[in-house]
Amino acid sequence: MNKQTEPFLFDAGIEARAAVSTPQVGISRPHESAHLHVAGTATYTDDIPELAGTLHAALGMSARAHARIKAISLDQVRAAPGVVAVLTAEDIPAANDCGPIIHDDPILANGLVQFIGQPVFVVVATSHDAARRAARLGAIEYEDLPPVLSPEAAHQAGSYVLPPMHLTRGEPASHIAAAVHRDRGNIRLGGQEQFYLEGQIAYAAPKENDGMHVWCSTQHPTEMQHAVAHMLGWHAHQVLVECRRMGGGFGGKESQSAMFACCAALAAWKLLCPVKLRPDRDDDMMITGKRHDFVFNYEVGHDAEGRLDGVAVEMVSRAGFSADLSGPVMTRAICHFDNAYWLPNVKIDGYCGKTNTQSNTAFRGFGGPQGAFAIEYILDNVARTVGRDSLDVRRANLYGKAERNVTPYGQTVEDNVIHELLDELEASSAYRERRAATRAFNAGSPVLKKGIAITPVKFGISFNVAHFNQAGALVHVYNDGSVLVNHGGTEMGQGLNTKVAMVVAHELGIRLERVRVTATDTSKVANTSATAASTGTDLNGKAAQDAARQIRERLAAFAARQAGVDADSVQFGDDLIVAGELRLDFSDLARQAYVARVQLWSDGFYTTPKLYWDQSRLQGRPFYYYAYGAACSEVLVDTLTGEWRLLRADVLHDAGRSLNPAIDIGQVEGGFIQGMGWLTTEELWWNRDGKLMTHAPSTYKIPTVNDCPEDFHVRLFENDNAEDSIHRSKAVGEPPLLLPFSVFFAIRDAVASVGDYKVNPPLVAPATSEAILDAVDAMRATAPVVQ
Ligand code: MTE
Ligand code: HPA
Ligand code: MOS
Repeated sequence: MNKQTEPFLFDAGIEARAAVSTPQVGISRPHESAHLHVAGTATYTDDIPELAGTLHAALGMSARAHARIKAISLDQVRAAPGVVAVLTAEDIPAANDCGPIIHDDPILANGLVQFIGQPVFVVVATSHDAARRAARLGAIEYEDLPPVLSPEAAHQAGSYVLPPMHLTRGEPASHIAAAVHRDRGNIRLGGQEQFYLEGQIAYAAPKENDGMHVWCSTQHPTEMQHAVAHMLGWHAHQVLVECRRMGGGFGGKESQSAMFACCAALAAWKLLCPVKLRPDRDDDMMITGKRHDFVFNYEVGHDAEGRLDGVAVEMVSRAGFSADLSGPVMTRAICHFDNAYWLPNVKIDGYCGKTNTQSNTAFRGFGGPQGAFAIEYILDNVARTVGRDSLDVRRANLYGKAERNVTPYGQTVEDNVIHELLDELEASSAYRERRAATRAFNAGSPVLKKGIAITPVKFGISFNVAHFNQAGALVHVYNDGSVLVNHGGTEMGQGLNTKVAMVVAHELGIRLERVRVTATDTSKVANTSATAASTGTDLNGKAAQDAARQIRERLAAFAARQAGVDADSVQFGDDLIVAGELRLDFSDLARQAYVARVQLWSDGFYTTPKLYWDQSRLQGRPFYYYAYGAACSEVLVDTLTGEWRLLRADVLHDAGRSLNPAIDIGQVEGGFIQGMGWLTTEELWWNRDGKLMTHAPSTYKIPTVNDCPEDFHVRLFENDNAEDSIHRSKAVGEPPLLLPFSVFFAIRDAVASVGDYKVNPPLVAPATSEAILDAVDAMRATAPVVQ
């Protein structure tokens, strides 16, 4: 008998089982698909057995950053072996648009190309290989237009994808002017490729009576449904989108899976046969948007202790050629410029620069990391300026508990635990002693330099578009006592399905093994939000709990009737139900309830309370609560080569009352290393024509297991969510990405030693070895030589 179909019964008879519930949440359980992941039997979109007659698509892409298309010759493409059809914008029956908010995102370029890599035509062939080979044979004649290739150039030209955003609190200008210390400067922060292990993919199959079934690796099945329907001029109920799991999304499949879903569906509609589109890694990287790189221009005024009097920052992001999610990303950047700090007088101006590059999109943190990095950079400078330990300066600026606790966007920070969290981390990491030790080491080491830093995180949880904060779920209890759950969230490796299954098991008092979660499917739960903003478990866990609770109440009422007791006295736990003298295994209960014609399935729904947001004023309560964390990192830098190593990292992260500590620690570790890659080795580089040259792992370096510190201490902070979240847990998907700020600032601390800690190193992010060497050289040129 295979493992999945073993009976659910405990070895012990039901008399021996406890009548009180053993909790099914708050315990470490393996990922629901871990055994499939390691065995290679987990089904990703490309593993779905292909339907007879399946054709394969590839994209023909623009070779110019900005040009009018004068002519396209596709004869050679059509004549290539295996080619069945070539489609262009003209073949799209209704809307040539897959933009998630603003409709400025053509599925296929029509007359105008706006970046190198923009899809222009779709080749459909009998094999994946034949389609790819043929796609290279397209001859496009261009008339070049001047491209805009950097956020600075866009800002200078006043070229934006959206109107600028402005937020002011207090009187920053006068407070900066009157401050003891004033400084101004410029911070450069690179973007980041999502580098999901499974690339973008969509597989579309036409169904009877003008229907379309699309399997797609996407964080947002409902939006894929809408995009395909919009393109074909159909209604939503004609399109079914399904996703069992992704091999990672990281934000890159929130909106940008749409172009792939639309191209596969277009070809399937046109040719009336199943069509799969799976770009290879290089094409994926050339086509899709990434984390926004930012340029910050700031002015700051502070006192002799390093307390901020006023700060003004201009944030310019590289939106790329279209708006995509750049608006909400900028909003989140603005709402995270405070990070964990009270900014009494502050001015923030956000500009989404329109450039002739890929349209940048969501990436873990969604602008939050960029906004918070800027204030951390500023405070890092302030500390050196006033000659204090940067942790002391950071502490001096933290939000208070009862005062100094209102964010620039008007939300009161009610659940602040950053003081206690930092106390605990400072002690457990032995920060003070180790800081002294790095100084002592550096005094005797002319080439190798150590650095150390602690940085805090405060991250707002909820979509910053209030109505996205809703979710639905379906729970079926079959009459053998097995349970099937379906919800609107998508599984991308983060463990959402595991957590939702645990919530359902807990609610029904049954073991997790009884509960199975199925593929996300727009025909089961309608109008879902993207699985994003870290809210997957908060939203879908609550919706599934609502569904399970309704079934439990019906079962309790049934059992109470049988036993002649009050429904409130019925207990569920350990696969057992106890009602007065009645003791029944859950399977028997389900069978008996079915025979008694009790409804054994239910829907569930949840909306996050307390949220309101005025986007025009950038004021309100965009977040239900905050997640907190802090990390201490120590590095060793070779100042002759710019090479470095992370020697030790200590992380303390607030996941509330964790639903599944093993999965949460995995999220914290993964987020930390991914964020470290962003700030150090991952560099996106476009050449002077605007061509992305780092479009493969050969030139784009993500961290590997070798880059993880040998000494890596990750712990969860003991803390219940102050709000009524699912079992008082906290969202954990994105916030840990900000923890490795400590790695960057530890590198900067090591570089600062070259100037005896008196000069602020001009270190840019990512701090590649080259960037580290540049900063060291600049220090040697400006600072007194100490070694
Ligand atoms: N973890 C894994 N393994 N793979 C992913 O793609 N995406 C991250 C995070 N953790 C991701 C991940 C991002 S960007 C978000 S928003 C959340 O997971 C989404 O899932 P959740 O809301 O269920 O936490
Ligand atoms: N995160 C991710 N996606 C979003 C958000 C967000 O905060 N707001 C709108 N879409
Ligand atoms: Mo995550 S960037 O909200 O998908």
